[in-house]
Amino acid sequence: MRKSTLMFTSWLMLSAVTLQSGTVFAADAAANIRADAANGQVIFNEGKGDASACIGCHGEKGLGMDAMSAPRLANIGQVYIVKQLANFANDLYVPSGMGAVMNGIGKALSDQDRRDVAAYLESLEYEIESSDLKALATDGIKVGKPEQGKILVSKGIKGRVPACQDCHGFNGRAPHIPALNQQKYVYLVNQLNNYRDGTRTSDPKVNKIGIMQGIAKKLSQENIMDIAAFLSTAPRITP
Ligand code: HEC
Ligand code: HEC
Repeated sequence: MRKSTLMFTSWLMLSAVTLQSGTVFAADAAANIRADAANGQVIFNEGKGDASACIGCHGEKGLGMDAMSAPRLANIGQVYIVKQLANFANDLYVPSGMGAVMNGIGKALSDQDRRDVAAYLESLEYEIESSDLKALATDGIKVGKPEQGKILVSKGIKGRVPACQDCHGFNGRAPHIPALNQQKYVYLVNQLNNYRDGTRTSDPKVNKIGIMQGIAKKLSQENIMDIAAFLSTAPRITP
């Protein structure tokens, strides 16, 4: 069996074990029932205590902003957002640049606030707002080729990199795997570089190797830009 396939399979088995043991998911399911999207909306638009309003960086509809290197949050996955906010609160992942505010914001929100804001973001109607690759290129940002990215996302690199689609599906498959489609270009490039250079360690580990770190280390800078160009502009349904 190919090494990448093996990694993928063992990871899926790992998720299945987590699912069966029920600890994580039962807790998540219960959390979702108690989540109050209306309170989440207030936090998103107005902030709370030391947490500034999310809207300022993540956009009015939570679709992200390349100029802020801020990701789309709407519909990327409720459980995943709760996990990321907890990761920030626990300094498990400390972003640089604009995102450096996120650790303080994670700490300023209670567990309940985090669930509420995640429920609000999940409740939003799905909207498409692709990154403007032409404008980014005009601003001097290197932009990849979407056609090449599409091949990498759907097929991977034979014998080296599994297809991104296998895990991420088109809109996020397992609750803890975020949706990548319509995610912002700048954010995608940053994250893949963060996994590649080991700055971001929030990914689950298989045989002590972070799933996304292992994958990103096998991607070239060009692969990363091509993938981000495709994902940030692709329509919702992959043909
Ligand atoms: C000053 C700008 C700013 C504000 C205000 C802000 N964010 Fe962020 N946020 C960012 C940036 C930039 C990142 C990307 C960090 C990185 O590079 O990893 C981010 C990342 C995130 C992520 C990780 C998403 C993912 O795909 O992993 C979540 C979740 C998030 N923010 C939620 C929130 C919430 C909820 C609020 C409001 C309570 C908020 N943010 C307020 C700038 C901001
Ligand atoms: C074996 C399953 C698996 C495969 C294959 C996979 N991913 Fe991931 N990916 C994950 C998981 C799990 C996470 C969440 C990790 C975390 O919490 O940091 C993730 C997170 C990400 C993120 C961060 C998203 C965010 O919102 O912050 C990006 C970007 C990403 N993956 C891109 C890719 C690309 C590009 C490929 C293909 C080259 C790929 N992934 C293949 C499982 C996978």
